[in-house]
Amino acid sequence: MLTVGRWLKTSKSWSSSSKKNSEKSVAFALSKRRSCRSFTDRKPPKGLILDLIDKARRTPTAGNSQGVEFLLLEEKSLVNDFWGVSFLGKDRSDFSFPGLFNAPVLVIPFGVPSLYVERYKEDDKSYTNLGDDAKEWKVPYWLTDAAFATMALQLLAIENQLETCFIGLFDREERIKEHFSIPETYQALGVLIMGYPDKEEAARGRSQKRKRRSLSEVVHRGSWRSPL
Ligand SMILES: Cc1cc2nc3c(=O)[nH]c(=O)nc-3n(C[C@H](O)[C@H](O)[C@H](O)COP(=O)(O)O)c2cc1C
Repeated sequence: MLTVGRWLKTSKSWSSSSKKNSEKSVAFALSKRRSCRSFTDRKPPKGLILDLIDKARRTPTAGNSQGVEFLLLEEKSLVNDFWGVSFLGKDRSDFSFPGLFNAPVLVIPFGVPSLYVERYKEDDKSYTNLGDDAKEWKVPYWLTDAAFATMALQLLAIENQLETCFIGLFDREERIKEHFSIPETYQALGVLIMGYPDKEEAARGRSQKRKRRSLSEVVHRGSWRSPL
């Protein structure tokens, strides 16, 4: 532990000082978070998910552009529509994770490029030239911001005994946008599947079995040349 230096020692002392609250800590929520691929159909309390989204959207946005919006699907028929449109014409009987279909809630976060372009046209941001066109953006901050909010939503879910699985939309995005009348220019981040885990039918994805890379492999202190 000593070799990793002050930064980690400090964070360790924070967590021990708040031991009483450790089950409510962000560190605890992060340690518990795993993708859940098998859900029961139990619904969360009415209004809970909307409240969690409201909390999650307190995450930062570039230039305070706030160009992150969410499609919330909680009605069974709408959730079924989502899966129907996703699998359009394809057989889903051999899908590896049928327990995903039971989840009562789907949240699709969207980034809204135009709100960023408009914001960056304003006087205090015009020097960036990012107000010219969304194509000028080396990092599409609307997706960065959508990801921040979605991560917060995952942690809030854990705090509320829910579990989640984030998956990509791939070529389904356009069909889903059309079906749910999403403006063409909005960009979907993926879909956050939310609900209560089915402990009896737990399913693990193949990627989940990959070993976590070591801290020294991923943290480069000062330069890529010096070891941690
Ligand atoms: C951007 C992103 C896209 C993902 N897409 C998929 C996906 O399409 N299908 C899937 O089963 N899991 C998907 N996952 C879940 C990852 O496989 C999972 O997070 C990873 O294996 C680590 O497991 P853990 O979440 O349990 O820690 C995605 C995760 C992220 C962050």
